[in-house]
Amino acid sequence: MEKLGNLRRTHKCGCLNESNIGENVTVMGWVQKKRNLGSLVFIDLRDIAGIVQVIFDEEADREIFLKASDTKSEYVIAISGVVRERESKNHSIPTGAIEIYGRDIKILSHSETPPIYVKDGDDVSETMRLKNRFLDLRKPFMQKNLILRAKTSKVIRDFMYENDFLEVETPVLNKPTPEGARDYLVPSRVNKGSFYALPQSPQIFKQLLMVSGYDRYYQIVKCFRDEDLRANRQPEFTQLDIEMSFVDVEDIIRINEKLIFKIFKEIKGIEIPLPIKRMPYDEAMNRYGSDKPDLRYGLEFIDLSPFFINSEFNAFKENTQTGKSVKGILVKNKATEFSKKGLSKLEKHIKTYDAKGLSWMKIEKGEFVSPVAKFLSASELEALKNDLEMVENDILFVVADKINVVNNALGALRKQLAEDLDMIDPTKYEMVWITDFPLFEYDEEENRYMAKHHPFTAPIDEDVDKLESDPEQIRAKAYDIVINGDEIGGGSIRITDRAMQQRMFKALGFTEVEAELKFGFLLNAFKYGVPPHGGIAYGLDRFMMILTGSDNIRDVIAFPKTQSASCLLSGAPTQVDEKQLKELGIKLDL
Ligand code: AMO
Ligand code: AMP
Repeated sequence: MEKLGNLRRTHKCGCLNESNIGENVTVMGWVQKKRNLGSLVFIDLRDIAGIVQVIFDEEADREIFLKASDTKSEYVIAISGVVRERESKNHSIPTGAIEIYGRDIKILSHSETPPIYVKDGDDVSETMRLKNRFLDLRKPFMQKNLILRAKTSKVIRDFMYENDFLEVETPVLNKPTPEGARDYLVPSRVNKGSFYALPQSPQIFKQLLMVSGYDRYYQIVKCFRDEDLRANRQPEFTQLDIEMSFVDVEDIIRINEKLIFKIFKEIKGIEIPLPIKRMPYDEAMNRYGSDKPDLRYGLEFIDLSPFFINSEFNAFKENTQTGKSVKGILVKNKATEFSKKGLSKLEKHIKTYDAKGLSWMKIEKGEFVSPVAKFLSASELEALKNDLEMVENDILFVVADKINVVNNALGALRKQLAEDLDMIDPTKYEMVWITDFPLFEYDEEENRYMAKHHPFTAPIDEDVDKLESDPEQIRAKAYDIVINGDEIGGGSIRITDRAMQQRMFKALGFTEVEAELKFGFLLNAFKYGVPPHGGIAYGLDRFMMILTGSDNIRDVIAFPKTQSASCLLSGAPTQVDEKQLKELGIKLDL
């Protein structure tokens, strides 16, 4: 292996083009591929900017030619030579019109045969990729994703700076919070038996900053949540966290639309139409069965209850009553695409959402074909056909149940249908603000109300009176930004009145003593002058999934964790020495 010495790089591999023809250049990088063709050696040299072809000619210098011949994949080398026009041009890469005629080579580092190929689209398990992340990160698509992520952070920081937001760091070692997900705990050595919690979000601190008069705050910040992991969740993830004083919902939405506009403009070159659509939570649930509806396709729910009020078919009839519902999704001109097997698979799928069944009816040769047709009267079928304008090859799916079950089951069916029927345009971005969330949701397991967003979220002014009498009917000043069916961010206007905050804690089942113990430091601050304030936090990783078109959150994070919250590269989490535990006063009981 050779030393760099005085040799310095003049260009990055991927940046060379026809304008460099005739120049003497030095490039450095990894050997992507080497081909020996008689008296010529071709090396594709890769760095973060791309790949360039280098050619060594035995006739020019045999010793250098032999050195080049000896290189292998992933060797790190430095090459000096002259840029010349390529005979057979490769138009699929930016450097494809040129090559470097190599005059010198230094081998800076050897490489063993790598356990995974450094190549996009290579069919290798994610476990192998994560174990060898340092190699996986060499892949062009991973580098592209992380470059785009860095660029997005810069666009965000520029915007925040231009709009008078102050970046303030908040602590990572915190007091445990009882709401939301499970905390990650950190034992204190100095205060044995006591624990810090890693922040699930900087919520309380950003509110305290508003009390302290910082007016507009933001932070790109790591958050930690010990929760069940899914495709778009990580135990540690990054938020773009924002808080503003002297504002209401409108002000926050307006400035955030400008931010989202700028991100799409600078990262994707797209001018998204403003204002972004808004939809109250109830409407989203009733029309799409989801508080994060994907609006890239239709398949909206149709309320079918009026058709079956007097039906003989009890499964439908009994669900036309208050609190229950009969709803359907009409798929036009696609009935032939559903086989018997396909239909029973769909039914099985929605039964996992507690639906009792899935009825379907299609029009074939002018007639209704349906397993439930025999339970329905001719006039019922005729009314359905006419009112829904059903024609040949249309198929209607129906679920009857409690409203929540119908919405959830049909919501899942809607997604499945869109996927199966290839109805999702991946080049489209459909955004919507979901507003007027319920303030509470009932937790069957805990047998009490929980805050739907968090306990600091303010109720809508005209609903405040219902706090004690009818908590389920209270709407919150909370909003989520949803892009292509993913919750990318969410926030709210906060409670700023001490008495109101105490009523809220009471409604959530905290005694006064508990509330004081857990949130006393916030309540205390509220005694000394608190501006009206509110904010939002974006899941930056999820935003990056949208901007890069990734369906795996790990593809936009350099060193992600697996579904079981471990790092396959480093092996974290691991057991620790007895000595370390002793220092912390901890005994394991496994
Ligand atoms: P919330 O809990 O809705 O709000 O979180 C904000 C956004 O963070 C993202 N997110 C996640 N991303 C990846 N992995 C996770 N495990 C994960 N959990 C959440 C989502 C979500 O929309 N303090 C409030 C914000 C506020 O009120 O200002 C909060 O944290 O995209
Ligand atoms: P069953 O009488 O339970 O065998 O159901 C007869 C048909 O009605 C089957 O095709 C079921 O899928 C359908 N079905 C039963 N209950 C419901 C329901 N609540 N909603 C929609 N379809 C149902």
